[in-house]
Amino acid sequence: MSEGGGWATRLGFILAAVGSAIGLGNIWRFPYQVHANGGGAFLIPYFAALVLAGIPVLLVEIWLGSETGLTTPLAIREKFEESEFLGWWAVLNGFIVNAYYVVILGWSAAFIVFAVTHGSELPTGDLFTAFKAFLTSWYPVAGVIVIWAVNYVILQLGVEDGLERANKLFVPFIWVLVILLAVRGLMLPSGLEGLEFYLTPDFGALTDPGIWIAAFGQIYFTLSVALGIMITYASYQPEGQDITNNAFIIAFANCGFAFLAGFAIFPYLVAADAAATDSIGLAFVVLPQAFQTIPFTPIVGAIFFLLLTLAGLSSSLSLAEAQVGPLRQKLDLGRTETVNAVALAGVALSLVIALEGPLGLLGEGEAVGQSLQLLGMFDTSSATYTLPMIALGETLIFGWVYGVGAFGGGQRIATAANAVSDFSIPPRVYAVVLQIVVPTALGYTIL
Ligand code: PHE
Ligand code: NA
Repeated sequence: MSEGGGWATRLGFILAAVGSAIGLGNIWRFPYQVHANGGGAFLIPYFAALVLAGIPVLLVEIWLGSETGLTTPLAIREKFEESEFLGWWAVLNGFIVNAYYVVILGWSAAFIVFAVTHGSELPTGDLFTAFKAFLTSWYPVAGVIVIWAVNYVILQLGVEDGLERANKLFVPFIWVLVILLAVRGLMLPSGLEGLEFYLTPDFGALTDPGIWIAAFGQIYFTLSVALGIMITYASYQPEGQDITNNAFIIAFANCGFAFLAGFAIFPYLVAADAAATDSIGLAFVVLPQAFQTIPFTPIVGAIFFLLLTLAGLSSSLSLAEAQVGPLRQKLDLGRTETVNAVALAGVALSLVIALEGPLGLLGEGEAVGQSLQLLGMFDTSSATYTLPMIALGETLIFGWVYGVGAFGGGQRIATAANAVSDFSIPPRVYAVVLQIVVPTALGYTIL
């Protein structure tokens, strides 16, 4: 088995980082947020959040990995010995996120099969009841095993032969899939109406602080920061690679994809006159129902769930590698045994959630609710609370403690990044953003 050195090409790193960033959130969360938070007007707070809060932290992480050549906890330790724990906290949190993320990908993989086999004859009537029945079946358990098996093989192949090759395949392919769905959607009689539903701006909504908080709250998860991924991925590059331009490419590719996903969703919802919603209900209940009202249901459904599965798979791979890399480095282990350990622990935790459906260990009768509840609990604690806290920790350390004299750490980081990058950012502006803007936004999000 390859010991897995690093990325063979700059494109390999960029595609892997983009693959990590594009995930479930881009497809089932962002489009709904736009629709629910002022339509096209939401793009303004979102863009502000991206530039003022998301990219600054992404830049810290890519710089940190690039400059130290070390994975998350060790990279942080190299700069601040006492802060190694922050890195391990991120690693642990990534492990938890991945455990439930894989469960959802397992559902999605099962739905590819259902779309093909039952496409136009899904149960009519209350589809949520049908989804509940699905949750108590053994399909979710099978799904967890399939997704973890795919992850396992790719991770064992190493960074270049596994992660880089997988992302070079998956990432272009999901763009093709989302464009196909969008084009088909726009060709529906309801195509334009779908767009209006998605994007008609309500600028009055901008005075509502809730909309700004929604934008700033979503940006870290969507960019895959604060879970140790970007530091680890960046550390697999050769020395002296571009930092700033890569960060912008990754961020804009991620957000561009999210924007496109709305075109691939709203025309179908409007065609079926279905209620707009987000997350699990959108993907597994509302959209399958909407697809049934148009021709070629099985094909459209299969494309959607293939898109969801592959977009999520590249994120899940990155989440797992964020533990594999640091554990290998810290304990001086080979890739083979580290991947064995991470995958074994991961599949065990994913199975706790998936098995709750058919077995109902937490109590009788309520098994379905508990399976979803368990997942929701993991999601809220790790993604909603812990993730911004880790991001805040990183920002305080690198924005403040890493500074020299009166200037924030951002000044040192920007200067180092500018020295190797295709374009420059003003160091003092960046220093202030990192010291003031980012922690303020994060503080609000947490509270
Ligand atoms: N960024 C991914 C998404 O939008 C999810 C993810 C978060 C992946 C954190 C890795 C780390 O769905
Ligand atoms: Na994303």
